[in-house]
Amino acid sequence: MKLTGKVAVVTGGLRGIGHAIAVAMAEEGADLLIAGRSLDRAAQTEQEIEALGRRCVVVQADVADETAVKGMIAHTAQHFGGLDILVNNAGIAPFKPIDEFTTAEFARVLDVNLKGPWLCAKHALPLLRRRGGAIINITSAASKGGLRQLTYALAAEFGPHRIRVNAIAPGVIVTERLGEQPSVEAESTAREIARTPLRRLGLSADVAKAAVFLACDDACYITGTTIVVDGGAMAVW
Ligand SMILES: NC(=O)c1ccc[n+]([C@@H]2O[C@H](COP(=O)([O-])OP(=O)(O)OC[C@H]3O[C@@H](n4cnc5c(N)ncnc54)[C@H](OP(=O)(O)O)[C@@H]3O)[C@@H](O)[C@H]2O)c1
Repeated sequence: MKLTGKVAVVTGGLRGIGHAIAVAMAEEGADLLIAGRSLDRAAQTEQEIEALGRRCVVVQADVADETAVKGMIAHTAQHFGGLDILVNNAGIAPFKPIDEFTTAEFARVLDVNLKGPWLCAKHALPLLRRRGGAIINITSAASKGGLRQLTYALAAEFGPHRIRVNAIAPGVIVTERLGEQPSVEAESTAREIARTPLRRLGLSADVAKAAVFLACDDACYITGTTIVVDGGAMAVW
């Protein structure tokens, strides 16, 4: 059990990669506060985590909304009395060609994928610095280039408070949402697998294992870096 006694906040933790990270952290002993937008999976996720013997609180929070983020952190303090791990996982990636993308949609992507993690880090800082901790940002995609740089800037600023800040850059990870994208057809999936050195697409659990590692004391001298979880795809690009 690598995270016994720790409290983790996972944004977008009710489905996909975030859900796998939340469950993996609970399996390692962490209590969870999960922030989601739609709460249809809230009860199911709470039960799943409580069945592991851990506590789980789900709150509705849009990470691009500062008031909601403040509320999320206030709930964490109220229910758990502290915070050790923040996983900035919530993100959106509308699959559209640029000429179909509106300026408002582009602004929303930046708000959720870049401003959101910044807001969460900013408001989590007072709790995190009380006992040290770890922030893990899930990157990839254009807006996430900014998030990678934010990871490095926060690592420099938060390091003296004993807060490590790292990123995970997933490759193509199979989730329900990915399967719904029209661009993800059998042919392109086969191509993706063929060009990936490990000859398979990623699973949410692959990303979750990296997140547990970055959150736990095994990574105590690792900050300001990115772990690429892509089966080697980037190495052969
Ligand atoms: N899957 C991949 O291949 C892949 C590759 C590289 C990077 N990533 C990144 O990994 C992260 C998770 O991806 P995923 O594939 O698991 O995505 P997903 O299945 O779409 O799940 C994303 C989660 O984030 C939540 N969310 C979205 N916008 C939010 C907001 N403004 N505030 C709070 N929660 C919000 C969603 O809630 P709702 O369901 O209520 O909308 C959902 O629970 C994302 O940041 C994504 O960019 C994924």
